[in-house]
Amino acid sequence: MKLLVSGGAGFIGSNFIHHMIKAHPTYTIVNFDLLTYAGNLENLEDIRAHQNYHFVHGNICNYELIDYVIDQYAIDTIVNFAAESHVDRSITQPDVFIKTNVLGTQTLLDAAKNKHVKKYLQISTDEVYGSLGSNGYFTEKTPLAPNSPYAASKASADMVVRAYFETYGMNINITRCSNNYGPYHFPEKLIPLIITNALEDRELPVYGDGKNIRDWLYVEDHCAAIDLVLHQGKPGEVYNVGGHNEKRNIDLVELILDKLNKPHSLIKHVSDRLGHDRRYAIDASKIKTELGWQPKYTFETGINETIQWYLTHKKWWQKIRSGEYRDYFKKQYGTA
Ligand code: NAD
Ligand code: DAU
Repeated sequence: MKLLVSGGAGFIGSNFIHHMIKAHPTYTIVNFDLLTYAGNLENLEDIRAHQNYHFVHGNICNYELIDYVIDQYAIDTIVNFAAESHVDRSITQPDVFIKTNVLGTQTLLDAAKNKHVKKYLQISTDEVYGSLGSNGYFTEKTPLAPNSPYAASKASADMVVRAYFETYGMNINITRCSNNYGPYHFPEKLIPLIITNALEDRELPVYGDGKNIRDWLYVEDHCAAIDLVLHQGKPGEVYNVGGHNEKRNIDLVELILDKLNKPHSLIKHVSDRLGHDRRYAIDASKIKTELGWQPKYTFETGINETIQWYLTHKKWWQKIRSGEYRDYFKKQYGTA
């Protein structure tokens, strides 16, 4: 395979590139990333010199550049991770979410269609389904009902991907995964924020009553699912991915504090997120029965690995929190 991985310098994208280099060392991998505040090439420092890995600094809204890169590397497969991904930022600045997540996806699809790329995989999210009550699960047939500007932009992108399958017969797949956690998770998101704040004895902001539920999956299990869909996904199909690890935010925060031997008094209840979805929970039986995917990590093993990673990679997150790495990339690539 000759893969273009857009958004490969972010959290899941960089874990996916590590996964693919290990699982398929002969594949060509082109990481195409704009290096926004969330993109960090340090995530890939250890494989920078690998002969089959290449980095291209670019925007998924730039048709000409994508077109050129597909030719240059004879790309036959595209996996699109590139997105604005943080719900809170989408509430204060929705426009960039629509541009990148919707128009960027359509631009990538156009380039893929015109160059006859063999497969296009869109990395989507369970947030497109909206919010659950205390019972039930999201299946692939659950109607889309996004509640945040972020979720609306991802749902819109999914609709465009679907349309390119129906209209042009492109070989597409969409995966919709629940909340990921693990190495290289940007410390604005709940788990890395809690770990890093607790390690520095800072307050831990918990939105509202803290009883919102998220369904957590260790990032390596998500990457293995994407690998499987790339190779065995049936054209036009959507696959939900999730590990049945539902946790209330407050319970999760207390669990992390206990593991770090830090006091619960660090917790600070703050104003709720606008339009805050109450509960997510994924039914992943389709990918399990049709493609044979199974998560390898329990929540216990995944969270222990994650905490250990943040303990042994203090420099990585301290640089991000200080903004030092952004100054470096601004100098290198002219992007902040
Ligand atoms: P992230 O914010 O960590 O990374 C996003 C990457 O995309 C960054 O490297 C950024 O520089 C790049 N990017 C942003 N705009 C770009 C553009 N216009 N052109 C090229 N590159 C651009 O995000 P993540 O958490 O790794 O999520 C990756 C994908 O997975 C997203 O599409 C997200 O919607 C989806 N997803 C995330 C989760 C989760 O829990 N994090 C769960 C399910 C699905
Ligand atoms: O479900 C998949 C989605 O998971 C992805 O599509 C998104 O890209 C990803 O960011 C994530 O979205 P969430 O909004 O669920 O993740 P976040 O880490 O921002 O928040 C998790 C929960 O914790 C949510 O209920 C809000 C709450 N929270 C979050 C932060 C940052 C807090 O209570 N305090 C916080 O400081």
